[in-house]
Amino acid sequence: MSEEKAKLELQSVRCVRGERLLFSKLNFQCPAGTLVRIAGPNGTGKTSLLRLLVGLMQPQEGLILWKNEPIKKLKEEFWKDLVYIGHLNGVKDELTARENLLINCEI
Ligand SMILES: Nc1ncnc2c1ncn2[C@@H]1O[C@H](COP(=O)(O)OP(=O)(O)O)[C@@H](O)[C@H]1O
Ligand SMILES: [Mg+2]
Repeated sequence: MSEEKAKLELQSVRCVRGERLLFSKLNFQCPAGTLVRIAGPNGTGKTSLLRLLVGLMQPQEGLILWKNEPIKKLKEEFWKDLVYIGHLNGVKDELTARENLLINCEI
């Protein structure tokens, strides 16, 4: 495939987590050689967006394309071109909100 087609593209992507709509109708293109910085306050959906972009979560609507093909269809063909360095969840689901806060105050 030609270098021009090595792009990541979002088309009208909608992301809902739990009861919250984080974003919808999100469009952008990231052509080869482009650097994108995602910024925003805590809890607005930056990590969710990254997880959608690498295929760890599925959007409720819309398409995520790599070289003009949906990543959902490409799977390993997309993942072989991908490096994703994520982070662990800051809170532990098995603890209460209070317990999570107490542990984090101790660290
Ligand atoms: N595991 C989860 N279960 C349910 N809702 C979640 C979960 N993780 C995140 N959320 C919701 O998604 C929102 C965005 O989370 P996240 O993408 O981690 O934001 P950011 O990375 O911008 O801080 C959170 O404010 C929360 O409402
Ligand atoms: Mg985050």
